[in-house]
Amino acid sequence: MIKIATLIEDANSIGKEVTVKGWVRTFRANRFIALNDGSTLQNLQCVVDFENLEEALLKQINTGAALAVKGELVASQGKGQSVEIQVTELSVLGGADPEQYPIQPKKHSFEFLREQAHLRVRTNTFSAVMRVRSALAFAVHQFFRNEGFYYVNTPIITGSDAEGAGEMFRVTTLEPKNPPLGEDETVDYKQDFFAKETHLTVSGQLEAETYAMGLGNVYTFGPTFRAENSNTTRHLAEFWMIEPEMAFYDLNDNIDLAEAFIKYILQYILDHCKEDLAFLDQRLTQEEKSKPQAERSEMGLLEKIQFVVANEFKRISYTEAIYILKNSKPNKKKKFKFPVNEWGVDLQSEHERFLVEKHFKCPVVLFDYPAQIKAFYMRLNEDQKTVGAMDILFPGIGEMVGGSQREERLDVLQERIAAQGIDAAELDWYLDLRRFGTAPHSGFGLGFERLVQFSTGMGNIRDVIPFPRTPQNASF
Ligand code: 4AD
Ligand code: MG
Repeated sequence: MIKIATLIEDANSIGKEVTVKGWVRTFRANRFIALNDGSTLQNLQCVVDFENLEEALLKQINTGAALAVKGELVASQGKGQSVEIQVTELSVLGGADPEQYPIQPKKHSFEFLREQAHLRVRTNTFSAVMRVRSALAFAVHQFFRNEGFYYVNTPIITGSDAEGAGEMFRVTTLEPKNPPLGEDETVDYKQDFFAKETHLTVSGQLEAETYAMGLGNVYTFGPTFRAENSNTTRHLAEFWMIEPEMAFYDLNDNIDLAEAFIKYILQYILDHCKEDLAFLDQRLTQEEKSKPQAERSEMGLLEKIQFVVANEFKRISYTEAIYILKNSKPNKKKKFKFPVNEWGVDLQSEHERFLVEKHFKCPVVLFDYPAQIKAFYMRLNEDQKTVGAMDILFPGIGEMVGGSQREERLDVLQERIAAQGIDAAELDWYLDLRRFGTAPHSGFGLGFERLVQFSTGMGNIRDVIPFPRTPQNASF
């Protein structure tokens, strides 16, 4: 058996007898089967000689059916393909009743396909997105390997809330109807599986820090979970995050690494996913045509990716960003839902989008945020007001990366933990890093699905992960 991608690439196969297995996309004129095996966007044209096929077999060649075909590979005379198979043997491995198979050769809406998430990878768009996703993941590992980082696996079940935002899913084996109660009539988690309260992790960072303080440079790449009730096109309850953590890096080193990292992986897909990206570029251009002129993107997908790779990210402090926003047209004309009046407010996505899409028109790194709106572990700056945080904002996406230099001073960290009302006992192991051989260190988290969204031009984050988990939805 040979993959269709290999047959199309390798002209040496012409004249040889080959066996190909895949799924029928279309069947025309009782003669031409377009077969797809997932190895490429392109279908292989299989020409079947009607005389040789039994009627019963012919009836089973429907869109969606799985076939094995054998025959000679020849240069194609027809338009649209370079090679085709002159089929001599054909067997139907599994039929697909046309009355029932939902993925017919016509345009389906993404909403409809979300309900068919188990079958949607058999469409051009989803197969292209998922091949690009896979290439991006590979490039992530390749980048860090080239840079001498170690890949570490941090726990998914955890007793601490890394972001301190309290948006966690509980992990328990207690009976919901009849949990054991303690003396104060609240649930007694001492009797739970781990003899304490546990949750699904929102981030592997705290554990990654421990490994950076021994291995030097490490990264995680795993699933993370957030029980935030955000029904947006950029939030998932279960998403994948890449979190590098580097000993002896300050905030600038951290930003430099993040920028180089993003450019490397985008260049990787430009080099290795040409066909899929060209298809997704066209798809996006078509979609943009249905939008009003003012909302259309100025650049196509490939152009956008190339632009990010070729240009420096704009770096500005939170304070500068507030200045720009305060004096911006939409703020003066009261067009922002959340007006920007004073230093200290958290930035909303409308503000981020203004900075990235209207003002700078390129990826923007914002750094040195007010301490009170950021997590406890971020390093307090000398001004005692801001922390060494950085967010990277992308056009059409908003926040792609969130990171910081970590607070390495024990006393300052303890104060920040106390100020945020966090139980220091849960973090004693984390504080140990500051007790024994503490050192400046930094890291960031990149939301993988947001990167896939940017790379594929897909508008909804639910369409770049095989089985999205969102509020009210955990089907499949
Ligand atoms: O900014 P966040 O919350 O940062 C952290 O979790 C840090 N512990 C990372 C670190 O420094 N090691 O999340 C990091 C990124 C965001 O910038 C965003 O891209 C993504 O994770 N993200 C989400 N992606 C999809 N759905 C959600 N609900 C997301 N929440 C965050
Ligand atoms: Mg963030």
